[in-house]
Amino acid sequence: MTKLRSGDVLRSDQFTKEEIDLIIETARQYEATLDAGEVLDTMRGLVLVTLFYEPSTRTRLSFEAAMLRLGGGVITVAEAKSSSAAKGESLHDTIKTVEGYADVIVLRHPQIGAAKEAADATNLPVLNAGDGAGQHPTQSLLDLYTILKEHENVDGLTLALTGDIKNASTVHSLALLLSNYDVEFVFAAPDALRMPTEIVDRVRAAGIKVTESTDLATAIRKADVLYMTRIQRERFEDPDEYESLKDAFILRREMLFDAKSNLTLMHPLPRVNEIVTDVDDYPGAAYFRQSANGVPIRMALLALVTDRA
Ligand code: CP
Repeated sequence: MTKLRSGDVLRSDQFTKEEIDLIIETARQYEATLDAGEVLDTMRGLVLVTLFYEPSTRTRLSFEAAMLRLGGGVITVAEAKSSSAAKGESLHDTIKTVEGYADVIVLRHPQIGAAKEAADATNLPVLNAGDGAGQHPTQSLLDLYTILKEHENVDGLTLALTGDIKNASTVHSLALLLSNYDVEFVFAAPDALRMPTEIVDRVRAAGIKVTESTDLATAIRKADVLYMTRIQRERFEDPDEYESLKDAFILRREMLFDAKSNLTLMHPLPRVNEIVTDVDDYPGAAYFRQSANGVPIRMALLALVTDRA
């Protein structure tokens, strides 16, 4: 019996506040052990399989680094075309196969709901590493961890989620996860890329104040945390629509003159052009610190779902 109610991590809204606190505290402890140079064997004898049917740098490598830091082993499929999915094998059959090889599964897949489908096919823990435009819950937990490190407290903050918030699974998960806290949201996007109504309605139903805007400047002015996202070319059916929107929200250094003094800039990465590189040395630019936080959070999740924490 794990300390979490579910052995799978499929959605950010599956967690109670107590579970979120446990994950954050476990990650803090692992980060302290890493900082102290300690070598862990928490996961010795266990194998993680990472199945990535869409590109990834941070999520796959930080999961694999996390497993290795915990003393476990890793096997991987880094692209669908190098697996039997390219021959027409179903996700169900792939999952039934890898359960003979591994103890925990991390899956990125283009289809919304794929992680749930995988979890239904196996008793092994399945962690959703992004299911298309659906959810990316482990990213949201590392985002929360980052906010707590940068600001100490989440309550009282205004978070502006901006860019392609229609298609970015990261912001869908983050909005739902942070609905456990006393925050305000600004959802800022071009009209065609607005936050899905279902997410807006659920956040408002949790008692959170939401302002919707088509203006990046408004988001910058109001935010304690400005969360940028890339316009997700792979989610557009019409290439011309992508071309018309790809430069809609670009953050330049001079646009930060009106920002609050303690502004934190976040981005799940990869970025394309939406944050100009001269922003990188802005003191609140936390996006590379954010990506590094993926390791302790994913150590915590791997250890908790396998009952090794
Ligand atoms: N943030 C994130 O999911 O990055 P990758 O696509 O590189 O995994």
